[in-house]
Amino acid sequence: MANVVVVGAQWGDEGKGKIVDWLSERADVIARFQGGHNAGHTLVIDGKVYKLAALPSGVVRGGKLSVIGNGVVLDPWHLVKEIASIQEQGVDISPENLMIAENTPLILPIHGELDRAREEAASKGTKIGTTGRGIGPAYEDKVGRRSVRVADLADETTLIARVDRALQHHNPLRKGLGIATVDRDELIQQLKDIAPSILQYAAPVWKVLSEKRKAGKRILFEGAQGALLDIDFGTYPFVTSSNVIAGQAATGVGMGPGAIDYVLGIVKAYTTRVGEGPFPAELQDADGQRLGERGHEFGTNTGRQRRCGWFDAVLVRQTCATSGVNGISFTKLDVLDGFETLKICVGYELDGKELDYLPTAADQQARCKPIYEEMPGWSESTEGARSWNDLPANAVKYVRRVEELIGCPVAMLSTSPEREDTILVTDPFED
Ligand code: IMP
Repeated sequence: MANVVVVGAQWGDEGKGKIVDWLSERADVIARFQGGHNAGHTLVIDGKVYKLAALPSGVVRGGKLSVIGNGVVLDPWHLVKEIASIQEQGVDISPENLMIAENTPLILPIHGELDRAREEAASKGTKIGTTGRGIGPAYEDKVGRRSVRVADLADETTLIARVDRALQHHNPLRKGLGIATVDRDELIQQLKDIAPSILQYAAPVWKVLSEKRKAGKRILFEGAQGALLDIDFGTYPFVTSSNVIAGQAATGVGMGPGAIDYVLGIVKAYTTRVGEGPFPAELQDADGQRLGERGHEFGTNTGRQRRCGWFDAVLVRQTCATSGVNGISFTKLDVLDGFETLKICVGYELDGKELDYLPTAADQQARCKPIYEEMPGWSESTEGARSWNDLPANAVKYVRRVEELIGCPVAMLSTSPEREDTILVTDPFED
């Protein structure tokens, strides 16, 4: 039995929702292992639209266990609202099918406030363009050893001590940013009020998953964001605050690296990015606008317009390496229909030299100029194609060239948001 990790292999928004849903039908357990409610994914099942941010995609399917792992940062108030809205759509969510790791750090209101205050105070060039949901400050507190974690909600004395420790750090910081200091008693009361709603789902996830694995159950690790937003290997500092790459799947739930059998990288047929930061193949012309319009490139969560550009094979080759991707799911090919000529970024020019990878230093990343290879486009529609024979010859050539350049095979090709509009080459669970 295989355990599969799904990771975005670009800057997020690669179309993970549909693929995760397809895979979750085949899995017994679906686990989130990093990020928080900065992720937004839309699932369409039997014509019903579900919008999820913190909950694993498996919750909308009966008979699956959904897990929020310790690698996640969790906003309890957001989670309670999200659960209520999904329940209103007729989905059953209970401690039988949802578990939250007891060692998961919480996102508190102070984190969101700090996130937004810093972004507002930042000057051009230093703004990250965060989702404003407190993700970064919550992770800072985790490594700073001052988080309030799920387990702390169970005991009032511990909870008060954890809050005091956090505020010792936050109140001076808030003063510096001109935000009112926190009313300690009010925060403690808010946490005491929300505690029962969260604690009912709290569990030693590492133990439950270890037992599931021994029982031969299939685990799907559901990544959020994309590998280029990884805190170590992304375009730092314009990144999110967690490890997004596949190795985090093990740490983020408490399993060994041997638990991962297959890594599926989700790759969009072109490139997009939300927020600030380098983007060598970005298009600020009619082609970029066309990609954005045809691909509906607006954030699920924030509604922000995404920046668009040509497919960057250099970056995807890099993320396939850092995540150990076994196969890719290639998405949104149909958005490229009708372009006379397509470009693929195959290298960078930096200070008169050619590079076959993105350098680490931020100033160098910002100066990298794309080197393009051109390919003829196709005029026919690829939307809804379900076999290679349904694709125009030039579309097949484009996909084959991508495989060659990134050094990784296509396992699945998605040609529309509909789950059946998929060409399956390899089932990651059977590989
Ligand atoms: P944060 O995760 O809110 O701290 O934002 C940091 C960076 O990650 C910003 O550039 C965000 O736009 C980006 N980001 C965070 N979550 C997502 C996502 O789910 N999709 C795409 N970009 C994201």
